[in-house]
Amino acid sequence: VLERHGASVRVLPAERVVAVFGVPRVHEDDVLRAARAALELPAGARTGIASGDVVVSDDDPRGPALSAAARLAARAEPSRPLLDDLSQEVLGSAARLDGAVLLGLDPGAEPVVRRHGAPLVGRSRESALVQHALERAAEEGRAHLLTVLGAPGVGKTRLASETIAGLPPGWRVARGRCAAYGEAAGLRPLADVAAEAAGAERGDPPQTAFGRIEQALSGERRSEALAARLAGLLGLREPGPPEETGWALRRLLEITAAEAPLAVVLDDLHWAEPTVLDAVEHVAEHATRPLVLLCLARPELLVERPGFGGGLPNASSVRLEALPPPEAARLARSLLGGELDERVEAELLRAAGGNPLFVEELLAMLRDAGRLEQADGRWMLAGSGQPLAAPPTIQALLAARVDALGAEERRVLQRASVAGQTFTLDTLHALNGETPEGAAERALLQLRRLDIVRPAAGDEAFAFRHALIRDAAYDGLPLERRAALHERLARWLDENAAEAERDALVGHQLDRAAAALAAIGGDADALRAEASTRLAAAGRARAARDDLVVAEGLLARALALVPADAPERLSLLVDLAEAQREVGEPEALAQTMSELRLALDRTPDVSTAVRARLVEAVIELHRDPAASGDVRQIAADAIATLTPLEDHAGLARAWMLASMAEGLRGRLGAERTAIEQAVEHARLAGDARRSWDYRVRITTAHMWGSTPASLLEQYGRELLDEARSLGERTAEAAAETCIGVGVALQGRGDEGEQLVLRALAGIREVGLRMRAGAVLELLSQVELLRGDLAAAERALREAYGILESTGEKGYLVGVAPALGSVLCSLGRHEEAEPLTRLSEEHSSPDDIVAHVLWRTVRGRVLAHRGEHAAAVALAREAAELAARTDCLNVHGGVLLDLAEVLGLAGQPEEAAAAADQARALFERKGNQVDAARARLAAAQAREPTRGARTS
Ligand SMILES: Nc1ncnc2c1ncn2[C@@H]1O[C@H](COP(=O)(O)OP(=O)(O)OP(=O)(O)O)[C@@H](O)[C@H]1O
Ligand SMILES: [Mg+2]
Repeated sequence: VLERHGASVRVLPAERVVAVFGVPRVHEDDVLRAARAALELPAGARTGIASGDVVVSDDDPRGPALSAAARLAARAEPSRPLLDDLSQEVLGSAARLDGAVLLGLDPGAEPVVRRHGAPLVGRSRESALVQHALERAAEEGRAHLLTVLGAPGVGKTRLASETIAGLPPGWRVARGRCAAYGEAAGLRPLADVAAEAAGAERGDPPQTAFGRIEQALSGERRSEALAARLAGLLGLREPGPPEETGWALRRLLEITAAEAPLAVVLDDLHWAEPTVLDAVEHVAEHATRPLVLLCLARPELLVERPGFGGGLPNASSVRLEALPPPEAARLARSLLGGELDERVEAELLRAAGGNPLFVEELLAMLRDAGRLEQADGRWMLAGSGQPLAAPPTIQALLAARVDALGAEERRVLQRASVAGQTFTLDTLHALNGETPEGAAERALLQLRRLDIVRPAAGDEAFAFRHALIRDAAYDGLPLERRAALHERLARWLDENAAEAERDALVGHQLDRAAAALAAIGGDADALRAEASTRLAAAGRARAARDDLVVAEGLLARALALVPADAPERLSLLVDLAEAQREVGEPEALAQTMSELRLALDRTPDVSTAVRARLVEAVIELHRDPAASGDVRQIAADAIATLTPLEDHAGLARAWMLASMAEGLRGRLGAERTAIEQAVEHARLAGDARRSWDYRVRITTAHMWGSTPASLLEQYGRELLDEARSLGERTAEAAAETCIGVGVALQGRGDEGEQLVLRALAGIREVGLRMRAGAVLELLSQVELLRGDLAAAERALREAYGILESTGEKGYLVGVAPALGSVLCSLGRHEEAEPLTRLSEEHSSPDDIVAHVLWRTVRGRVLAHRGEHAAAVALAREAAELAARTDCLNVHGGVLLDLAEVLGLAGQPEEAAAAADQARALFERKGNQVDAARARLAAAQAREPTRGARTS
């Protein structure tokens, strides 16, 4: 019994028997086979069925699945087979269970139970083709052979059943299905077709069906010979010669089709025996009545029978492709009953690649595992960002498909899987080593025919049809082979990959090699160390290029490969922390920082320790500015320590921290000088990227400081040319912002707005959230110059949201009062007040600009409430603090606010004087827009009848 169902069997002492299904070859229905066999075992057998990995060497199977099965068998009652959880899951609704006891199986069960969970999506073109073939056959009274070819699960059976359900009245249907083994193998599908064509019900015993057939044949010429052949087909007597089977079947079908047009559906024809295929071709070639043979098969059919139906004038075929992404997404929405979050959708499409069965199974798996959550009416993926893996059902199906390939195809597929989802012919050759000329190309061609691999964008590039088939091929590679292949590919990439990507690619392959080696208990330390070095180099290069999102990922991987006590850990932590801060990942950052502090205490390396402190200071300044230490002092100490060491890389960072300290104090001239020092030290350290990056940041000091508008425009344009020639999107964005602010100050607000919006789009494109916040703040300035308060509010609210969500406070204490100021101008003073409190509480004592801003806004709020004395006092304090800075626009703005507060307090002369002072500052900045506003404010203060101040 066991062997008939395809098991390899071993008899052990004490009447114990071990049956392994799926060895030496995996089948998609191995669990189903085991279950069927268990039900057919002699009465009294105690059986346990478990699924999982089995190791077979020297004919001696071992592994956790076997011990699990043995334990189940020991517990089982006679003739009541017990199933483990995984087997139950795989069998799904095909099995009738009492707890874990297998009672019976659905006779028509497919290896992967089809859920038919959603109404048909798409397929209108393919349906029309089938429809058309049916109509023509009926009209012309001829036979037609239509073959639908497509990968497993793509929807062949579904397409056919939908078409059959929609047949016009008067049509008859006869169905047969081929199977890989067992009863339904052999001629059974044809017997089923014959029985149903003659009017028998499905499930009728052969005798009854034969009775129907005899009835149908009555009155025919040679009816006895026909009946004899058909009885052979039904297994009621010895089958006749194969050619005569085709003849008898054709005659029977013709006889039925003479009464009404007939649709014959033959499913899973890739499993058909040659006799079945011969008979089908015979019917197609010779039948002279309205009948359509609708044959459904996986592309493997054409491996067995490349010319199936090919020579016939009345044969055609349709390829059923995967659903295009929008339709696959529609299917998923329909299955879940709701919208999908972008990440779920992308991940689903990556894994399933438009295969409806995989979409169904993946969603069912996620739902059963509780990994789908609905929020705001959208389905989200809970838990880690792990890529989706195939459910066990699909795993078996795909593993079987890979296993059934020819040796060369399987070899090529498995090697390609080492390269990843996409691969080139070159990488394949590198992985393949010495193989006969053209072998890989031939195998690839075959894999394309089977719709397992498809051409991808790029020169001689290919991709797996979907990620799950890649995983299946990869999983079929023994770990030792995997390790060797990954390393081989790493060495090849080191010679051949483009320089910009080399470290990342090599590092990735070495990392995989190390993982595979470690999994079989090998010594992977050397590989791991090498992988880490390469990934770290790639991460640092990316960080230098401002590609921080990618950098962060690479650095985190590099770090994970380094042992806990390795000295290089500290510098990796420093770089990772910097990247995480920029990307805006507060939780990951907090973790990195706590590890960083521990590592810092242990390191004897002064330079690294100082660098770590510098990074820590920057991070603290942003995270909790009120509690951060004296950053100017920290920077000065670092400069003093590092200068004698001539550690220019460290000095560059120290000067950047110094520049931040000056910026906080509103001394933008000094900030600029400090950045220039940083630029020079980075250059001396040979870090051209960083040097350039710092130079780009000088624009910020120019914008906020005393540099006149016309020069902003000029500097910005020079920088833009340079950035474009280097192809640097972030630098371009900085330049565009600088020009935008410059032209807006000069009264060309719309032009300025366009430029800053472009910059913002650029920053978003590269995924730098913190910097997007900074650009939004400048955008609000431009909107204010344009007089669009609503747009200014929107920009600031967005900036506020970003900073808040990243746990950032260093910028937030400036953005909050800026938003408060806009709200005051909109007459919403009460909303402004809490924002000033936030800034008051959280800003660093050194952050003069924040202190200026919250005071001036609070002054306006108090004045609005009629608390004039307090208002004037605060506004004056703000103006005095602002006078210590060289932020001309901020200073001017504060004086204008003071003028407003004084005006409301009934002090027009003082108000006019403040407005005059403001005008002078704006004029120095070349800020023509605010200078005009200040002029008007002064005039109105002196002559109040001319109307209220407009903002
Ligand atoms: N266009 C579609 N819209 C909605 N669901 C679909 C569509 N196509 C297929 N399905 C569903 O996907 C699952 C797999 O389809 P089906 O069984 O027809 O695949 P198949 O191509 O016959 O696979 P196999 O080669 O394994 O027989 C079924 O549950 C089916 O209902
Ligand atoms: Mg099918």
